[in-house]
Parts: sequence; structure tokens; C-alpha cells
Amino acid sequence: MDDAELIALLGEGAHGYFAGGAGDELTLRDNEASWSRIRLSPQVLVDVSSRDASVTVLGQRLPHPVVVAPMAYQRHAHEDGESGTARAAAATDSTFVLSSQSTTSIADVAAAAPDARRWFQLYVFKDRQVSLDLVAQAREHGYEALVVTVDFPVGGWRERDRRTGFSVTHPLAINPTGESMTTSELFAMHDPSLTWDDIGEFTDAAGMPLLLKGILRPDDAERAVDVGAAGIVVSNHGGRQLDTVLSGADALPPVVDAVAGRADVLVDGGIRRGWDVAKALCLGADAVLVGRPVLWGLAQNGQAGAEAVLTQLHDELDTTLALLGCPNARDLDASFLTR
Ligand SMILES: Cc1cc2nc3c(=O)[nH]c(=O)nc-3n(C[C@H](O)[C@H](O)[C@H](O)COP(=O)(O)O)c2cc1C
Repeated sequence: MDDAELIALLGEGAHGYFAGGAGDELTLRDNEASWSRIRLSPQVLVDVSSRDASVTVLGQRLPHPVVVAPMAYQRHAHEDGESGTARAAAATDSTFVLSSQSTTSIADVAAAAPDARRWFQLYVFKDRQVSLDLVAQAREHGYEALVVTVDFPVGGWRERDRRTGFSVTHPLAINPTGESMTTSELFAMHDPSLTWDDIGEFTDAAGMPLLLKGILRPDDAERAVDVGAAGIVVSNHGGRQLDTVLSGADALPPVVDAVAGRADVLVDGGIRRGWDVAKALCLGADAVLVGRPVLWGLAQNGQAGAEAVLTQLHDELDTTLALLGCPNARDLDASFLTR
């Protein structure tokens, strides 16, 4: 489906919100471009008759390194919404991250996809109690990790949303009344005064491993380890926050060096193909998050569409492992790359 077909399906407002980025969308484009700039360097005459894409993250074996990124307002893409995406993740052995800005409640997603490996993404709101209540619900309903997003003190400068005035009309976990709210009204709930000193409160409340999402600098990655994060997501929020920041692919290597194995490092932004997933692992990531492709699958065909996208990513990764001469994903390293 091209952009015109997606706009016809979703309307300009929702399409602009999902597809768009901040400012001139330079980072949005660079996210994809920077994976394609990296060249692979395959090894031949290796026995690749059996292959294993599994990785270890937060001390657990994941059958695949693909994690579905937290994305808000999924019922605006398709009525299956977050439950459909979570079921697609379960069906493909992927990990699913539920957004704090979801259009399906924490409990309902858990009930719809009890077998999915579910993590919960947290925004810290000005009303801290709202965030703490979300954490308590995530714990109660079997979510296994808390992903605190730290690159969103305020909303990015998103011109598509300014133009369309996109409003969320589905009830939200944080606003169950279902009254229509613009994204700028919703983003105004975020707490711009959040600092490193506040993270401990959430580590304590979580009772599950905590990841910090939205880190681009190695010194911030070190601070994340110091405050007890079990994982870091190197991310520029899909190019939606500050335009012209560096891409996930470019930010990753210095962060991996700084963390030096003391926490798991995940990366996102512009990962579109199984070979992009392999490149991230070669650069030292333990796993990757994939956003928009899953959303486009959901938009086109609900749960089945999201499932098809995840299945293809896994199959592409499997082909990549074979053709790289590296049958085990955990053995991918920089020797398989030429920059
Ligand atoms: C429509 C949309 C909504 C998003 N909502 C959230 C969110 O609620 N919380 C969050 O931490 N990140 C959110 N993100 C960022 C994603 O988690 C992820 O970092 C990014 O989409 C990855 O880039 P990709 O879409 O190029 O794969 C959102 C991204 C998109 C595209």
C-alpha cells in the first residue's frame, strides 16, 4: 500500500500522526537511510543447515530479537487495536510493548493476549499518581518489564498534526471518558520536570526490570546503568521528537561501548527488513524494536496484517543468517559489517 492508499484508509489526520515525524522529517528519513548505508560482509562455506535467531534479553531467552515498539492510539489504525497487535506478537513469538497512550486498557490487552510476552511503556505524567497507577496495573496483569520513555518532556514539533488538528476520539487507558482530545492536549500531560532523581521511584514501584527508552548519548547510557536500568533503548522516537538528531544506527555503537555489557542495549528507528535487524545485532544490540511497519500491517488487515509483517521480518532474518554464514543470531558481530 502506498501513502495515498493509506491516507484513503486512515484519513489524513491519523495517517499524518502515524507516518509523520518532527520538523522537516530529516531524522525520520535518516533513520531508514542509515541502516541502508551499512554494508554486510558475508562468510561462505559455513554449515547453515540449522539456524537459531534467539537472543537473551533481561535474562530471558527470546525466540526472536524483534520487539514491537510501543505505539499510541492503535484503534485509530484498525478496530483490532492494541489487542490485535499483541495477539500478532504472541502468534509470531515476538515481544509486545503496550504504550501508556493506548486505546485499549492494560487489563483488556492482557486478557486478549494472555500468552504474549508483554512489556509496558510508561510516560511520566505531571500527575505522578496516574503513572504509578499504570505501573500497578501492568504488574497486576503480568507485564514483564517497564519501559520508561525519557525523550518526551514535551511533544515534538509535528507539522502534520498541526496542519490536520488530529484528535484522539477513542477512550484511552489514561482518559477513559472517550472525549476527543488533540495530541497537543494529551502531550501537555507529560511532566517536563522529570529528572534522573525521579527514576528510582519507578524502579521501586515496578517490581520488574526497567528499561529507559530514548537515549542517544553514551554519557546518558552510563547514567541509566547507574540508576539501575536493566536495559536501554537507543531511540530518537521514530524521528518524532527533535528533528536533526542522530539516527538509532549511528547512536548505537558508542552506547554499546559505554554500557560495556552492564545492561542490555536495544535500538529502534527505521528498521524495516530482516537484514536491518541483523545489522543492529552486528553493532552490538541485544534486540530491536520495530514500529511503523507493524502499524501499517495492522491498518491494512488488523491482527492478521500485523502478523504477516512480523512473520516476514523473522523469515528475512532467517535468510540473512543463512546467507551471512552466521547460523546463530547471538554470534553476529562487527566482523560481518563493512561501513
Ligand atoms: C504512531 C507512533 C506512536 C508512537 N507512540 C509511542 C508511545 O506511545 N510511546 C513511546 O515510547 N514511543 C512511541 N513511539 C515511538 C516508537 O516506540 C519507536 O521508538 C519508533 O516508532 C521506532 O521507529 P520506526 O517506527 O521507524 O520503527 C511511537 C511511534 C509511532 C510511529
